[in-house]
Amino acid sequence: MIYFDNAATTPLHPEVKEAMISAMEVFGNPASIHQLGRKGRVLLENQRTNVSILLGGQPGEIIFTSGGTESLQTVLASAVMNHGVTRIISSPLEHPAVLKNLTHLEGTTPLEVVRADFDATGRIDLAHLESLMPGEKKTMVVLMHANNETGMLLPMKKVASLCREHQVLFLSDTVQTMGKFAGNPAEGASFAAASAHKFHGPKGVGLLYMNGDMPVQPLIRGGG
Ligand SMILES: Cc1ncc(COP(=O)(O)O)c(C=O)c1O
Repeated sequence: MIYFDNAATTPLHPEVKEAMISAMEVFGNPASIHQLGRKGRVLLENQRTNVSILLGGQPGEIIFTSGGTESLQTVLASAVMNHGVTRIISSPLEHPAVLKNLTHLEGTTPLEVVRADFDATGRIDLAHLESLMPGEKKTMVVLMHANNETGMLLPMKKVASLCREHQVLFLSDTVQTMGKFAGNPAEGASFAAASAHKFHGPKGVGLLYMNGDMPVQPLIRGGG
């Protein structure tokens, strides 16, 4: 069989499988202070460091989640419910992980969602995007780096620099590019969401990068 559906999910890489099996031998709770716990903590922190190197950031800027959807939802919920974001600029071309969360937040909070224009090929209208940025409301841009249906890429550096210029937060959905894109797909973003199963990692592991522009609150509180 020739598999052509790597945008949906990818097979586990044999080296990843091997690394996971050997990591599972270390059963200590990373929060425990005894030797086995410390072993688990070292494994966890080494992986956080590896991811941060990939993204050109610091280990403290990386959170592990259960998938791309949780990474995206964590930032969206935190921005709107804890940090006073009342305006989100996004697009109708986003993945349901964003679209459904925005619809939910629009219906349950004072959030206003506005949509940037795209042309018929799926290319963003940057002038229109910039025209939406100024305003009194605390604003966040939420746009995917690569579209999961068309593969169209967002001009990340340009969008990130517009966001900085207008002091607008920027959440980038890099689920389709993290681990596949030559260079740092999260460059310039306040937050980037990714998912291990899209680049030969296991299902059930997500990544969230946050550059310190805004602290995020966990969706599920109190866990270790
Ligand atoms: C662009 C994009 N964002 C988010 C997601 C959701 O990621 P996950 O399956 O890890 O929850 C996907 C998955 O298909 C996707 O393609």
